Amino acid sequence: MKLSVIGCGYLGAVHAASMVELGHEVVGIDVDAAKISMLSEGRPPFFEPGLPEILKSAIASGRLRFSTDIADAKGATVHFIGVGTPQRKGEYAADLSYVNSAVDALIPYLSDGDLVVGKSTVPVGTAEVLAGRISASSGADLAWNPEFLREGYAVKDTIEPDRLVYGVPRGARGDRVTSILNAVYASAIANETPLVVTDYATAELVKVSANAFLATKISFINAMAEIADASGADVTQLADAIGFDARIGRRFLNAGVGFGGGCLPKDIRAFTARAEELGRGDSVAFLKEVDAINLRQRDRVVDMVVDALDGNVFQKRIAVLGLAFKPNSDDVRDSPALDVAIRLHGLGARVVATDPEAIANSQRLHPQLTFAETASEALKDADVVVVVTEWGAFRELVPSEVSKLTAGRVVIDGRNCLDATSWRDAGWTYRGMGRP
Ligand code: UGA
Repeated sequence: MKLSVIGCGYLGAVHAASMVELGHEVVGIDVDAAKISMLSEGRPPFFEPGLPEILKSAIASGRLRFSTDIADAKGATVHFIGVGTPQRKGEYAADLSYVNSAVDALIPYLSDGDLVVGKSTVPVGTAEVLAGRISASSGADLAWNPEFLREGYAVKDTIEPDRLVYGVPRGARGDRVTSILNAVYASAIANETPLVVTDYATAELVKVSANAFLATKISFINAMAEIADASGADVTQLADAIGFDARIGRRFLNAGVGFGGGCLPKDIRAFTARAEELGRGDSVAFLKEVDAINLRQRDRVVDMVVDALDGNVFQKRIAVLGLAFKPNSDDVRDSPALDVAIRLHGLGARVVATDPEAIANSQRLHPQLTFAETASEALKDADVVVVVTEWGAFRELVPSEVSKLTAGRVVIDGRNCLDATSWRDAGWTYRGMGRP
C-alpha cells in the first residue's frame, strides 16, 4: 500500500521505516528541513536501537522517501498523523496546534476514499472534530489508531505491537476503515495480535488511560518507597512480593527518581485538563497526586545528596550518572535525571554529568552544565556519585574500580539499580530509594 506519515519525530520516523519493513511504500513528511535531510540520508535524528538499520534498508529498497512538502502525500491512500501534542505553555492542556495544522495542510491533497489515521496522543473528543473537518472538505475518512510504542523498543513495538486499537466511524464506513487498517497491519493481524475496534472516543481514551495507569503504578511504588524509608522496609522486596500476584504484576513497579519523557508527564496533565473541561475533574483528581509524588522523588534524590555531604554542597564535586529519561534513549524531555543534575548545579555543586547517548541533547538545553564523555571521567575526584538513569554501563560499574577514581565513597542509587551489597562490601555508603 502507498502510505504517508506526517510528522517524523520519535513516533513518525519509526512508523515510516517500520511500515516499509512490513511491505508498504511510504513517504515521510515533516516541516523540519534538517530532520528530513538526515532521515533522507538514512540517519535518524535521535537515538533509537534498531532504527538506523531498518531506515537504511527501507531507503535502499526505494520504498521510503522523505519530504518537507505536504503535497507529496498525494498519491498515498492512507495518511498517518504522528505529530507531537506537547503540554501547552503555562497550562496543563495539550497543544493541538501541530495536529490541527497537519490535518488542515493535508486536506487539499486527499482523494476520495483515502484514509487519514491519527496516531498522536490527543484529548478525548479531538477525533470527532477532525473527522468533521475532513469530511466537510474531502471524500476521505478518519480513523484513530493510538500508538503504544516505548522509546528504546520502538521498532519492535511498531512491527509486533501487543495490541491494535482502531477508533472508526459508525456503520458501513467503519467497516471499510477497519478493512483498510487490517490491510496496513496485515502481518500483525495474521499473528493474531489482539484487536479492539471501537469508536473514536474510546480509542483516544485507551491511550491516555494506559499512560495514566502506568504513571499511577510508578507513583504508587514511589509512595511505598517513601513509607519504606520512614519505616526501614525495603521497597524492592516489597515490589517483588506484591508483583508475584498476577493481578498486580511486577512490571512498572521500580521505585526511583520517577517518570519523565515526552509522554507520561504531559499525558496525565492533559488528561486532568480534559476531564475538567468535561466537568469530571474529580474523577481523575488523583492524577495530580500521581504527578506530585513523581516530582517529589527528584527532591528526594537531591536531598539525599545534600545529606550525604552534611549540607555542604557548595563546590563539592558530584558525578551524575545518567541524563536520559530512561536507558536506551537519548531523550531528555522532562527527564528526572537531567533535572537532578540541574538542581545540584543550582546549589553550587561542581556537577559532572554523563550519559551514553543523551549528552548532546542535554547540552543544547543546559549548556551551563559540565559533561563528561565517559563514566570514568565523570567519576574522577567525585565526592558523591548519583545514578539517575539505569543504563547497563552504570549498573555494571565495579565498586572497587570506582573507588580508584573518586574522592568520596557515597553512592546514591536513584534508580535502585545497583547491587547494594557489593558496593557496601567495597567500603561504600550506599543509599537507594526506599531501601534500608
Ligand atoms: C510510554 C508508554 O510506556 C508507552 O506505552 C507509550 O506508547 C508512550 O509512553 C507514548 O505515549 O508514546 P515511554 O515514554 O517511551 O513510553 O517510556 P516508559 O518506558 O513508559 O517510561 C516512562 C518513565 O517511567 C521513564 O522515565 C522510566 O524511567 C520511568 N519508570 C518506568 C519508572 O520510574 N519505574 C518503572 O518501573 C518503569
